[in-house]
Amino acid sequence: MKEIRTQVGIVGAGPAGLMLGHLLHRAGIGSIIIENRAQDYVIERVRAGVLEQSTVDLMIENGVGSRLQREGMPHDGIYINVFGKRRRIDMAELTGRRITVYGQNEVVKDLIAARGSSGRPLLFEVSDVSVHDLESDQPRIRFTKDDEVREIRCDFIAGCDGFHGICRPSIPARHIRIYERVYPFGWLGILANAPPSSPELVYSLHERGFALFSMRSNAVTRLYLQCAPDEDLSQWPDDRIWDELLTRLQSDDGWKPNVGPITQKGVTGMRSFVAEPMRFGRLFLAGDAAHIVPPTGAKGLNLAMADIWRLSRAVARYFESGCPDLLDQYSDDCLRRVWRAQQFSWWMTSMLHQPVTDNPFDSRRQRAELEYVTKSRAAMTSLAENYVGLPIEESISGG
Ligand code: FAD
Ligand code: PHB
Repeated sequence: MKEIRTQVGIVGAGPAGLMLGHLLHRAGIGSIIIENRAQDYVIERVRAGVLEQSTVDLMIENGVGSRLQREGMPHDGIYINVFGKRRRIDMAELTGRRITVYGQNEVVKDLIAARGSSGRPLLFEVSDVSVHDLESDQPRIRFTKDDEVREIRCDFIAGCDGFHGICRPSIPARHIRIYERVYPFGWLGILANAPPSSPELVYSLHERGFALFSMRSNAVTRLYLQCAPDEDLSQWPDDRIWDELLTRLQSDDGWKPNVGPITQKGVTGMRSFVAEPMRFGRLFLAGDAAHIVPPTGAKGLNLAMADIWRLSRAVARYFESGCPDLLDQYSDDCLRRVWRAQQFSWWMTSMLHQPVTDNPFDSRRQRAELEYVTKSRAAMTSLAENYVGLPIEESISGG
């Protein structure tokens, strides 16, 4: 067996693992990133699109934001279409902050390029990954690469391997508490070669369910439809998808999305999930490995980036001074932001999906809430403040 030594062993090359490797490299700290998928798969996986300002700032300040600055699409507001009435929430005016639309796969591409320039190891297509001796000061990661078993000995392991990874399940059950809610619906998402017909996102609630209009560039529209969590894609030929999108999204002012060839389709289930604490011994969980939010609040990638900012600072402080204080605070500090985002994502999801319950009272209440949220300046400010995201160092419930 081949043994390798590094300071931080990182499991997973999604946005969390790659950004951690990058920030550690900038602090002069060595890491090895291992990923079980192929590089092309990781780059092409279509997922998030909305970056909070703090995520954008983090990327720019750390030298991985130049393409984001050129190609990202800054948005000052969003629309909410309440049963045909499309109303705008001016986030920039209400909060002084904005969001940027830039595909997660572009973020991943930029971070893989930065890793390449750093010369530090990033291994794709590894298998049989396992983590060991988590409570010792020299934990180990074992894996197979090119039919050879290898072992990384390190000071810390970062579990950045997403919801289905192996790091969280390696923590003994008595040391971790899980909070979870699974929703009775999912999203059918498409990418279409059609120029966006609105410069800003449109979240829509229609009698037939939720729909979302988003984009990836001046030529590509990204759209989602509420569907069953286990929806069978073979029942959704392109014409049916467009009929449903047009019905749910078009508004009384005549707005509707442009139609074009569909280039990608997928169904995602929706859940809220938190594992506490986000640490066991020398294993630190970050991003989707520790928490999942339903995508209606556009928070998942941004939460992952906020965790990584904290973890990189905590590890850097430890190696500079031997002081473990930030490592000890890591989980509590992250979880304050995580729970704020959980509450917001749950709220957006319940407000915008059909049916909330089978009690007609709840439908009328939901409509009243949407009327309020799109008309009251106080309510719009609250939505906007959460949507654009708190500065990374702040969290309301933390005081
Ligand atoms: P992942 O991206 O899941 O990365 C984990 C990596 O670990 C993967 O590459 C995986 O292959 C690898 N891995 C898994 N197991 C192993 C193993 N055993 N060994 C080695 N490697 C392993 N978030 C937003 O902020 N804004 C949005 O607009 C938004 N929209 C979304 C829309 C959809 C349809 C979906 C599905 C998600 C959306 N999200 C959004 C959420 C966002 O995509 C995730 O929160 C984000 O990918 C989390 O990054 P991560 O690095 O923690 O995890
Ligand atoms: C996206 O563009 O993929 C997107 C936008 C907003 C969301 C979720 C996903 O809330």
